[in-house]
Amino acid sequence: MDYGATIMSIFVPDAAGNMETVVMAYDSLDSYIENDMYLNAIIGPTSGRIGNATFELNGKIYGLDKNFEGTENLHGGKECFAFKFFNFEVIDEKDQTKVIFTLEKREEESLYPGNQSIKIIYTISEGRLLIEFTGETDKDTILNITNHAYFNLSGNMKEDILNHKLYIDSSKHMELNESLVPIKIKDSANTRFDFRELKRIKHNFYEGIYELKTKGIDDPFVLGTNSFDHLQVKYKDEVSKRVLKVYTTYPVIVVYTHNYPNNLDLLFKVPNKRHMGICFETQLEPNGINIKNINDGILKKDKKYYHKTLYNFSIEEWSSWSTILVTIKHSI
Ligand code: BGC
Repeated sequence: MDYGATIMSIFVPDAAGNMETVVMAYDSLDSYIENDMYLNAIIGPTSGRIGNATFELNGKIYGLDKNFEGTENLHGGKECFAFKFFNFEVIDEKDQTKVIFTLEKREEESLYPGNQSIKIIYTISEGRLLIEFTGETDKDTILNITNHAYFNLSGNMKEDILNHKLYIDSSKHMELNESLVPIKIKDSANTRFDFRELKRIKHNFYEGIYELKTKGIDDPFVLGTNSFDHLQVKYKDEVSKRVLKVYTTYPVIVVYTHNYPNNLDLLFKVPNKRHMGICFETQLEPNGINIKNINDGILKKDKKYYHKTLYNFSIEEWSSWSTILVTIKHSI
């Protein structure tokens, strides 16, 4: 839909051919307006947390909205793209449909420098959802755009994601401080961040995880091979046999296991409980602008921002599968 360029459903068949949606969904449109879970929306100007809601660029200090714990900026604060109406155009081509969402961000309405033209292109074809994130700016600025889809391969949120399996090509993660702000890159080998072998998601949960502030996985995974042709994430449900593979040009994926459910009702009368979905938020290093020696996420004046992420759906161990249909409803 045009509000937040938000995905409302993605229908994918299970091994028996049942078409069900594989993203979480609210049961009312009003909930998408409130949407403090950022359910399935586009996030920007920056994704994740900016420490002390502050950054310095070209000698000037910028103060952002302190919408997390009264001190940090989360997902851009009030001006998050999730809360903007995008213009859109639908282009039907032979084997695919494109939905092109555009947004003009004006400097006078923003705490970030510069005017930006943002374009998000969803290309939907058999078993594939490609998202292209593009932007241009008339002043140096910071930009880090992602999509916050909550996947659940069980179909229609029949069960939570803890028994599903996950592989991530990542041997490093970003350490978070006590306000969940990323502060440095650390090795993940043999820690709960190590998903280099396909394993049940709950396998990396341990007694005491709910005493952590994150209450599950809510961490930036630094990708091993930064190439669009390389499989970066495989997420699999052995019951429905659905598989999601993620490929991206971005260097980081924030994996978030829906640890802080709100009280908004979900579709199909499913309880809005913890771990009902899993987000693969592909992005630049969050808070990079405030960390030495990593990508600072600065977009220079007149330079183009371009990244893409492919979510590829299939059925494993099922050779003669019929058409996989991915549909995104794009209008209210
Ligand atoms: C963040 C979580 C936050 C969630 C909001 C995630 O990207 O990492 O900490 O609670 O978004 O829905």
